[in-house]
Amino acid sequence: MKKDLLAITDFGAEEIGHLLHSALEMKDKTKSGKVHIPLAGKTLAMIFQKPSNRTRVSFQVGMYQLGGQTVYLSPEDIQLGQRESVADVARVMARYVDGIMARLFGHELVVELAQYASVPVINGLTDLLHPCQVLGDLLTILEWRGNLDGTKVAYVGDGNNVANSWLNAASRIPLDLRIATPPRYQPDEQILEKARSAGISSVLLTNDPQEAVHQAEVIYTDVWTSMGQEADAEKRAHYFTGYQVNEALLAHASDQVKVMHCLPAHRGQEITDQVMDGPHSVIFDQAENRMHIQKAVLVKLMA
Ligand code: CP
Ligand code: NVA
Repeated sequence: MKKDLLAITDFGAEEIGHLLHSALEMKDKTKSGKVHIPLAGKTLAMIFQKPSNRTRVSFQVGMYQLGGQTVYLSPEDIQLGQRESVADVARVMARYVDGIMARLFGHELVVELAQYASVPVINGLTDLLHPCQVLGDLLTILEWRGNLDGTKVAYVGDGNNVANSWLNAASRIPLDLRIATPPRYQPDEQILEKARSAGISSVLLTNDPQEAVHQAEVIYTDVWTSMGQEADAEKRAHYFTGYQVNEALLAHASDQVKVMHCLPAHRGQEITDQVMDGPHSVIFDQAENRMHIQKAVLVKLMA
């Protein structure tokens, strides 16, 4: 039976471990110039309702490196659910391609796409979740830390799709996850409850960034205004004052703290230039690792 990646919780802890190790192996192969083409002759359709740099380029280059190819479909091409129903798009596309990666607004759309497509569907970000991002981030942590168990991760900012995916990661991998958001911008309640009831990780929700970053090994942030929320940008900037990742906040964390951001960044808002370009930042390693982890996902689902 085909398998999808709509949420990190679609995989068990052992599967996530395998994905991470397979990504490390593939990264080594790529860096040493070895040809590895398990997806020769295969095609991935990439459906986008929102803009993208990392997701689009890393999936496209990743497929190419694995011997396959991609078809990029912009919002104007598909007009998902408007020109044609989501189910019909899924049924048709599965006749041509071997996998679909989709970046959509409503999470229910990617669920419906997966329901009707007979080929694997990968969530390339929805309003609710961004699983490929956090899987790539786990890879980045694994590379410098050697293991993930008990990593003290402080997420500071908006309780958005990336924060929700961190909670999903905490449902599978033992983390010490602290999330600091303004009261009205907390993560999804059901996902939070699931992460807590999984009983694997320690999960703290607070409104105090300093409490979250106390002795943290990782400080993570993301934009205050996600794609699709632009009309609220000014209001959000007001409520997120005090949630900036800056030198003063870093002083409350471990000396060795790593700073992470999924990008794109709004420099001067959620993060300062000084921190983003400073010695604690692993932000561009994260961007690179999106490609390596996604190659592992593509091979697992499509080979
Ligand atoms: N982090 C991330 O998904 O970047 P893009 O929006 O550029 O794809
Ligand atoms: N939370 C951000 C992530 C971008 C990769 C957004 O959804 O726009």
